[in-house]
Amino acid sequence: MEVRMRIFRFNPEKDRKPHYDVFTVEAQPTDRVLDVLEWIRGDVDGTLAFRRSCAHGVCGSDAMRINGRNYLACKVLLRDLGTTEITVEPLLGLPVIKDLIVDMGPFFEHYKTVMPYLVNDELPADGKERLQSPEQRERFDDTTKCILCAACTTSCPSFWSNGQYVGPAAIVNAHRFIFDSRDQAAVERLEILNDQFGVWRCRTAFNCTEACPREIKITQAIAEVKRAIQTGRVE
Ligand code: SF4
Ligand code: F3S
Ligand code: FES
Repeated sequence: MEVRMRIFRFNPEKDRKPHYDVFTVEAQPTDRVLDVLEWIRGDVDGTLAFRRSCAHGVCGSDAMRINGRNYLACKVLLRDLGTTEITVEPLLGLPVIKDLIVDMGPFFEHYKTVMPYLVNDELPADGKERLQSPEQRERFDDTTKCILCAACTTSCPSFWSNGQYVGPAAIVNAHRFIFDSRDQAAVERLEILNDQFGVWRCRTAFNCTEACPREIKITQAIAEVKRAIQTGRVE
């Protein structure tokens, strides 16, 4: 099949404003968007800038906008796009460094504010392990799947309108520890998320849930955190 790739280009060292370059590429329907980008960079234009690492949906480094929706480029087959006209753009809401590469700094700053690590200063009862039942582990299983790709936060209208909103990815990673029976900092995290730029900025738009390549029930996780703040109970 022949695909027409329209790719966002911006080099801040040379360009006053962004533009689009068009590449016509012969490809297989089972090729992924990432394969086509690799071919363009390798054979046509070595200056094309984009991130990738694992190429298998694990590292989260190649999130980008493909025909107006956030995806991991390594997880999208050409045949699944339903068209041979493909527009590829950087994630919205984060500064563009070059072409498809955005500055992930603001995203990780929000992530860091929610204490995304286990807090427990007490020694385990047996001095070795903090035991947890399968039910307790299941409570936060879904939110352990996050790969920090930013597809959710950068598809959220509340984040677009105010970049100070902590965003769905940070809330997902707070949820992962708030509902972990071994953790002792739930109250502190809930206070952080009760801030004016915390969970209440979420207007239940659901874009985040639709964008998540790990199919995490993000809007539900946010609702659970909101409920914990309102009731003062983590259950
Ligand atoms: Fe990516 Fe999903 Fe994690 Fe958001 S919650 S950063 S979309 S993996
Ligand atoms: Fe945004 Fe997701 Fe809420 S898209 S408004 S964080 S449900
Ligand atoms: Fe690692 Fe796509 S390159 S998730």
